[in-house]
Amino acid sequence: MPAWAFDALPCDNQPMAAELTCQAHVSREPCTGGQIESVRVEAPRAGEVRVKVAAAGVCHSDLHMVDGHLSQDDFPLVAGHEGAGVVEAIGDGVLDWAIGDRVAFCFVPACGTCTPCLEGQENRCEPGLRASFASVLTDGTSRMHDMAGGQLKQFLTIGCFGEYTVVPEQGLVRVPDGLPLWQAALIGCAVVTGVGAVRNAAGVAHGDSVCVVGCGGVGLQVIEGARLAGAAAIVAVDVSEAKLEAARAHGATHGVIGTDERPGRQVRELTGGGVDHAFEVVGREETIRIAWDSLKTGGGAVVVGLAPRGTHAVLPALEFLTAEKSIRGSFYGSGRPRREIAQLAGLAEDGTLDVGRTISHRTNLAGLEAALQRLREGVGSRTVLILDPGSPARSQPDLNHRRERHVEYLIAHAADRVHASRGLERSGL
Ligand code: APR
Ligand code: ZN
Ligand code: ZN
Repeated sequence: MPAWAFDALPCDNQPMAAELTCQAHVSREPCTGGQIESVRVEAPRAGEVRVKVAAAGVCHSDLHMVDGHLSQDDFPLVAGHEGAGVVEAIGDGVLDWAIGDRVAFCFVPACGTCTPCLEGQENRCEPGLRASFASVLTDGTSRMHDMAGGQLKQFLTIGCFGEYTVVPEQGLVRVPDGLPLWQAALIGCAVVTGVGAVRNAAGVAHGDSVCVVGCGGVGLQVIEGARLAGAAAIVAVDVSEAKLEAARAHGATHGVIGTDERPGRQVRELTGGGVDHAFEVVGREETIRIAWDSLKTGGGAVVVGLAPRGTHAVLPALEFLTAEKSIRGSFYGSGRPRREIAQLAGLAEDGTLDVGRTISHRTNLAGLEAALQRLREGVGSRTVLILDPGSPARSQPDLNHRRERHVEYLIAHAADRVHASRGLERSGL
């Protein structure tokens, strides 16, 4: 669409968004704990959308971030990267979203044109990751500020531990009406990361055997993925008996306590020689080794857990050859997260994929510090913060607004077509 089209056409009924003030959890420096503060959230700029956050999952990556395991520099910060809400304002040029749309966040806003995007690896989008890993939006700045005007970073381009946030338009996925937002909140991290690792990184086939080391929020969704792929045996390994119970409820066929002697060997014994695929979903040297040790000859391990900087994995290298074992990493589902989040939201809506069972605690913003402490202590599989208990059960898009934008678009294109057909007439074709 030509750029002049927007400027030339009146758009009187487009509500002009203004900056707003709301409550958010702010981490001012690593390791010291955060507090709830009043923050300013700017109006969305071109290509951005402001969302009223309904629910946010508390993931171990948030804990890594606020505890300073990933960066010492990206503070002060609003953490939270797994969430869902309702579109509240849109910036210039945003055609795909309307105020009132129910959405989930995707924390790699893929550009669609860089080499990884063109190769179908949108999880590795270069500009998307640059912004995400710097905890800013794609223009290198954030839309959140404290009351003194200081910039607040938005973890992984999102920052949804607050009542409102502004994200790139590519950082959103539509949520179907049948899926509650407190469940939709998990699709954009735990679900797509876990199921994607199974489908795209490991390629688990019907009848394969699987071991999952670490059965927190992400690990339980690896188990969901393995169950959906038709894995014959799913062995869960965790240090907590309660986590193994949760794993069984999601479809694990066996459980091994990770502190027992040589858990990898126990997995091999339970599966008659080892598993085809082992997933490490903790982020520690010893759990990577358990995953490796549980493999059968020719098996492959996938590291999903985020290991703090400085962690090294030591493996018996001879087994690369003598047992033809392999190991790889998987980040954000190893595929096209935005497309897969949409698809997985559909599977969650019709009950094929179980998200609700992964959630052990529901609380409000004031319960976030306690939720982070539970993650430190390994208690509970996933906490969801309910930031807007009154969020709508269905999308209620402002259709006048959407229609107006599409009319503008059609008019602009109609003009293009008239020019084109006149050109053809003149050329005698
Ligand atoms: N052996 C087996 N399981 C362990 C061990 C161990 N030595 N140590 C911890 N665990 C288990 C915990 O009991 C917990 O159930 O690992 C699980 C980790 O789950 P969560 O803390 O809920 O973390 P989650 O949000 O699932 O993320 C897992 O993936 O995305 C990354 O940063 C994230 O590294 C983290 C990992
Ligand atoms: Zn996460
Ligand atoms: Zn890209």
